[in-house]
Amino acid sequence: MKLGGSVITDKATYRAPRLEDLSRLAQELRAAPGPLVVVHGAGSYGHVLAKEFRLAEGRDRDARRDAAFAQVHADVRELSVLVSEALRDAGLPAITHSTYDLARLDSGRLLSFAHAPVADTLAAGFVPVLSGDGALDASRGWGILSGDVIMAELARALRPERAVFVTDVDGIYDRWPDGALLPRVGPHDHVGGGHARGHDVTGGMAGKLARAREVAKAGVEVHVVNGAVPGRLADTLAGKPTVGTVVLS
Ligand code: IPE
Repeated sequence: MKLGGSVITDKATYRAPRLEDLSRLAQELRAAPGPLVVVHGAGSYGHVLAKEFRLAEGRDRDARRDAAFAQVHADVRELSVLVSEALRDAGLPAITHSTYDLARLDSGRLLSFAHAPVADTLAAGFVPVLSGDGALDASRGWGILSGDVIMAELARALRPERAVFVTDVDGIYDRWPDGALLPRVGPHDHVGGGHARGHDVTGGMAGKLARAREVAKAGVEVHVVNGAVPGRLADTLAGKPTVGTVVLS
């Protein structure tokens, strides 16, 4: 499960959670028929500072940018606390993992990811919670890692039956913003650009679709649904037909 930062926060306003949507989505996650891993985006706990200080470009000698990098990690940890509290309130025993600790980058790409702690938490019957985060980068000092990339990585490691990307739009469109919603996207379907709204340092919807395609290639059933509309996530998890996009490998 990827809870997009635009659903659980107001992406334009620094550190503004959407607590009602978060607790409703946590309730909907109870419809998951089996073990569950929750990855959440950073939303305005990450993108606002990451954009202002160009954190995805890596480290230089500017101490203010180092401070911003450390602040982003602290802020996404705080959002993880809110996410895991909402899950526990819904009866799901959430345990948070720090992505910063598990991941290493090189030139902005994932170099290594320690899956074992996540797999162990899952095997112990808990719900692991991870997030997009800052991470150390072998050649750039540090960088930014999207939760969508973690989804692709975990899909290969854990081989879930289903992966759901929860966003604030109905799914993947053939063109944005004036195109048609695609109920299915195959590997060769061309999807027009757009979608990102200027707050996103990790690739917007095009990046999300690329990662969703990687997840599908791991043999996983992949859905993109609108988490702002009550019931769609629960229906998807219960295997009921609903508005959204299925991404095929
Ligand atoms: C972004 O993670 C990480 C940071 C900006 C620190 P995501 O790419 O998963 O976040 P959302 O879903 O777009 O908010």
